[in-house]
Amino acid sequence: MRLRRPFVAGNWKMNGSRTGSLQLLQSLVAGCDQINPNVDLAVFPPFVYLELAEKILNETCWAWGAQDISAEPNGAFTGEISAAMLNDFHCRYVIVGHSERRRLFGEDDQLIAKKFSTALQEQLCPILCIGETEEQQANGQTVAVIEKQLAVALKSAKELLENEFVIAYEPVWAIGTGKNASPEQAQEVHANIREFLNAMNPDLALRTRILYGGSVNAKNALPLLKMSDIDGVLVGNASLDANQFIEIGKQCNYLS
Ligand code: PGA
Repeated sequence: MRLRRPFVAGNWKMNGSRTGSLQLLQSLVAGCDQINPNVDLAVFPPFVYLELAEKILNETCWAWGAQDISAEPNGAFTGEISAAMLNDFHCRYVIVGHSERRRLFGEDDQLIAKKFSTALQEQLCPILCIGETEEQQANGQTVAVIEKQLAVALKSAKELLENEFVIAYEPVWAIGTGKNASPEQAQEVHANIREFLNAMNPDLALRTRILYGGSVNAKNALPLLKMSDIDGVLVGNASLDANQFIEIGKQCNYLS
């Protein structure tokens, strides 16, 4: 038995249409009986399809969540979506600090920490994304970069122990590039992340799930999932194809 429940999450990013999303959601539901019930499964559609996700996925093997959240509770913040709104649609999870938000929309560690803490306070389970760029990796800065990203967001071990959260290690050079980290490379960074958590609190290290993300597909998922500190995967592109995403979920059936 694995210490932590495997978790397979699909980030749709800004893709799909109303009709396409409906078909994808329905196909995912049709695949439920193929995946071990001890696996947590979730999709992250664009905000405007969350209502559809709730309608189709309710009481199935799939949970749903949002790709981002505002750090503010309400008010004059044009274009933002609050935690309360996500709770209106019964989102269980929210992705925070995805590298595309950091890189393309200028989100810094402070803003991400605020979003992370807002999600925790509003009983949404945040998936905190961290990871180094290609240049940082080449300069041997991976551990320093992820430790800084973690240190800004993870402040109180007590609060973290009282709430559910997930970490996703997504090397920026592996996202959408087809160049995924090798299982050994990813395991090494995951072990560092767990060590960071252990220094905060040993229980936190034991219970926190750390996902790997970056060009995961049905072919490369299993060796990654077999690593002792890899508790699941955050999948972009391959989650847009129901068959392939179900296949990734099914890889967890082979974990002992
Ligand atoms: P990818 O995206 O699987 O398309 O590389 C992963 C992610 O950005 O979460």
